[in-house]
Amino acid sequence: MRFVKTLMATAVALTLGAGSAMAAGGGTHVIDHTWSFEGVFGKFDRAQLQRGFQVYKEVCASCHSLELVSFRNLGEPGGPQFPEEQVKAIAASFTVIDGPDAEGEMFERPGVPADKFPAPFPNVEAAKASNGGAYPPDLSLITKARAGYHGILTQMVQGAGGPEYIYSLLNGYTEEPPEGLDPGELNYNAYFPGYRIAMAQPLYEDSVEYQDGTAATIEQQSADVVAFLAWAAEPKMEARKQAGVRNILLLIIFGVLLWYSNKQLWKPVKYGQDA
Ligand code: HEC
Repeated sequence: MRFVKTLMATAVALTLGAGSAMAAGGGTHVIDHTWSFEGVFGKFDRAQLQRGFQVYKEVCASCHSLELVSFRNLGEPGGPQFPEEQVKAIAASFTVIDGPDAEGEMFERPGVPADKFPAPFPNVEAAKASNGGAYPPDLSLITKARAGYHGILTQMVQGAGGPEYIYSLLNGYTEEPPEGLDPGELNYNAYFPGYRIAMAQPLYEDSVEYQDGTAATIEQQSADVVAFLAWAAEPKMEARKQAGVRNILLLIIFGVLLWYSNKQLWKPVKYGQDA
């Protein structure tokens, strides 16, 4: 009985939780973008990751660090998979601080694949001072650190929606603020909680020029950079999903074997020794 009661209490809590999230408008207030990396069989689109890296490098990297990612990761399977020579060239295009040298001084040198992405500001205070007091967060785990969908039930079906939220945020500058909402020194954004954000609109039509000829609309650049950030937050996603599918298949095979052996073993008991 106790078990049944607990079960019912959980069901009620889940329903109420989902209901209140929807009442607050949290359940639907993002653009529901479709990603190639969604679902059990989802994979990253290599060309999209490469374009997304370009957007991060040419636009976001002047304010946001990506401190958990190394240049060599850009060449690894499951990611943008830039060829080795290109990874070296990308690394060398960044300046990293190394040292101390024999005199005890820190010095600058071009990056190598083993380096992490260097941060655009030397410390948090400098980053805030350049951004009107607001801190541009590190983007390494940002797609996991934000949610676009709320309520346990919604998240069970649609996922937490971190990529959808960031996609919406990047697209959320174009609307006029509603009557009575004055963003003041900040910027109006239709998807940021509170609608006022310190980050000015970062992406415009043709902020970058894609080498593969893709038209660089705001939507396209946003989708590309979000896919890149989703990969940065989970570089082994493809391997994890493949392992999951493989394990489920194995479980099914073992399940059938177990069922059949069990049936054979109990046959004499069920039908007598002669069976
Ligand atoms: C000129 C500096 C600047 C640039 C360029 C910039 N950002 Fe930001 N970003 C900020 C600041 C400052 C904040 C903090 C905003 C706040 O807390 O109000 C921020 C916040 C964010 C957030 C967190 C929003 C949240 O929910 O807390 C995300 C995600 C983000 N930026 C993504 C990007 C991406 C992706 C790009 C490149 C396309 C980019 N930013 C370019 C300065 C910048």
